[in-house]
Amino acid sequence: MTTCLRTLLRIPWLRPATIQIPARFKYTQNQGVKGIRNRKSYYEAQMQAGQQTDGEQELSTASGADSLDMRFLDDRAYDEVAGGAMRISRDVATAQQVLILQPYVKWAAKRNMPEDVQPNDQLAEATALIHSLPNWKVARGLKVPLESLERKTLFGSGKMSELKELITNLRQEQQLTCLFVSKGTLSFAQKHYLESEFRLPVLDRYSVVIQILRLHATSAEARLQVAMAELPYIWAQAKDASMTQTRRQGYSLSDLQKEILRTRERKLRTELERVRRQRQLLRQKRKQQNYPIAAVVGYTNAGKTSLIKALTVEDSLQPRNQLFATLDVTAHAGILPCNLQLIYMDTVGFMSDLPTGLFECFVATLEDAMLADIIIHVQDLSHPCHDAQRAHVESTLRSLAFSVAGGDSTASHMPPIINVYNKCDLLPPNAQPSAAQQESNATAHRISARALTGLDPLLEDIERQVLAVTGRRKLQMRVPNGGPEMAWIYKNAAVVYTEADEQNPERLLMLVVITQRTLEQFKRQFC
Ligand code: GTP
Repeated sequence: MTTCLRTLLRIPWLRPATIQIPARFKYTQNQGVKGIRNRKSYYEAQMQAGQQTDGEQELSTASGADSLDMRFLDDRAYDEVAGGAMRISRDVATAQQVLILQPYVKWAAKRNMPEDVQPNDQLAEATALIHSLPNWKVARGLKVPLESLERKTLFGSGKMSELKELITNLRQEQQLTCLFVSKGTLSFAQKHYLESEFRLPVLDRYSVVIQILRLHATSAEARLQVAMAELPYIWAQAKDASMTQTRRQGYSLSDLQKEILRTRERKLRTELERVRRQRQLLRQKRKQQNYPIAAVVGYTNAGKTSLIKALTVEDSLQPRNQLFATLDVTAHAGILPCNLQLIYMDTVGFMSDLPTGLFECFVATLEDAMLADIIIHVQDLSHPCHDAQRAHVESTLRSLAFSVAGGDSTASHMPPIINVYNKCDLLPPNAQPSAAQQESNATAHRISARALTGLDPLLEDIERQVLAVTGRRKLQMRVPNGGPEMAWIYKNAAVVYTEADEQNPERLLMLVVITQRTLEQFKRQFC
C-alpha cells in the first residue's frame, strides 16, 4: 500500500468507507496521482491551452520550453573555445583517471570555511563530484596543506617536487589522464603553471561541476542555464591569460572567438528571458489554479527527490547517488491527509565553495521556491558536515529572499520553512546530536525517505502549515445529497469525508477544506 494512502487511513477521523476522492485524483499503486501530469510540462501545457484547470480537458504535452530555439547551442567553434578554457569536452563518455588534490589552508583561522568542515570532508565532496561522472575514476585523492590558496604557483617548490614524484609513480601504475585541483576556480596562471609542470590537463571545481551540469541538463531550460554559466568562466580565464602575458604559450581569444562568445551570450539572454516570461506566466497560472505549493530545497544529494517520491509515490522519479542530479524545477502532485492537493517542487541542490557566477544562472529557478507557500528544507543528518550544509542553504535562502524582494531588506519573502532531517536510517544507534541540532531538534522532523519512516507526522505538519499560510480551514457543510452544491464543492474544495445526516436523510454532511474566497463564492451561488 502506498505511504500516502496508509497515512490517509491512519488519521482517526478519516473513515475509509467515506473517503470520496474524485476519480481523477485517486491513488493507485505504482501510478502515483492519476489525472495530473507530472512535472512542469503539465503547467506549460495548461498555459499553452490557455484554459482553467479542469480534469476533463485534454492537455497538450507540448512544453513551452520546447519551442525555444536551441540549435545555436551546438556549435563546434564555441566548443573549441570552451574546451580551451575549461579543459572539458562534450564527450563525457571518455574514461578518465583522475588525481584529486584537495588544497586547504593550514591554519583554521585563515580557512574561510565553517569550523566543522574539515579537509577530509572537502576531499570526500571532491571525490563525490568525480564519481558523479560516468567513466571517471579516482586514481588517488590527496589533501595538500598550504599557506595560502592565492599563490601564483599554488604549491611551494618542495610540495611541487613531492607531487611530481607521485604523479610519475601513478603514471607507471595506471593511466593518469587529468588532475582535479578541488578549489572553486584556479586562475589562468595557476592552471598554466601546473599543467606545464605536471604535463597533464588541470581542472578546477568550476570545470568539473560544469561537466556534471552538462551531463544532467536535459531540458531546454537547463541546457540554456548551463550554457550561460560557462561564459563568465571563459571570459575570466581569457582576461587572466592576457594579464599574465602568456598569450603565446597559453589561452587567448582571437577577435572571431570573442565575437562567437558575444553572439552566443546575446542569444542565450534572449532565450532565457523568454523562459523567465514563461515562468512568470506559469506562476500566475498556478495562482489561478489555487494549488498550494511546497518547494523542496536542500544541499545536493540530501534526498529531496527521494522525499518527493515517498510523499507522492511517483515511480517516474529516480533518485540518484550523484551530485546535481536535479537541474530543473519540476512539479509533482501529492495529496495531504485532508485530501487537499499539494504541488511539490523539486529544485536544484546547493553546494558550498562554488563560485557565485556558476549558480547565478539557476537563481531564477530557485526564486520559484521563494514564491511557494511553504519551503521544505531536506537535510542529510548522517553527513559529517550536516550543520555546515544546513547553514549554507539557510544563508543562500536568505539572500534569495532578499533578491526576490528586490533588495528591500524590510520586505519578507521567506515562506515558512519545515526542517527535515533525512537519512536517519544511516545514523549509528547512539548518535549524539550536535549543539546546532539540539537547538533545532524540537522542530525538525527526523525521517528516512528510503526506509519510509517519520513521514506521517511530517505530512501532518505540512498540512497544518499549508492550511495556515493559504488561509484554508476545515469546515463541515450540510448540503442536499446528490445536488448541484455537492458537485460544486467536489470541484472547488478538498473533501475530507462525507457522511449521511442522521437527522435528515436528504442531506449530506461534508467535511471540507476551503478558502474564505471559495466559501464566499459558494454562498453567492447557493445561499
Ligand atoms: P540532487 O538532485 O543531486 O540535489 O539530490 P537530491 O537531494 O534530490 O537527492 P536524491 O533524492 O537524488 O538522493 C541522493 C541519494 O541519497 C540517493 O542514492 C538516494 O537513494 C539516497 N537517499 C535519499 N534518502 C535516503 C534515506 O533516507 N536513507 C538513505 N540511506 N539513503 C537515502
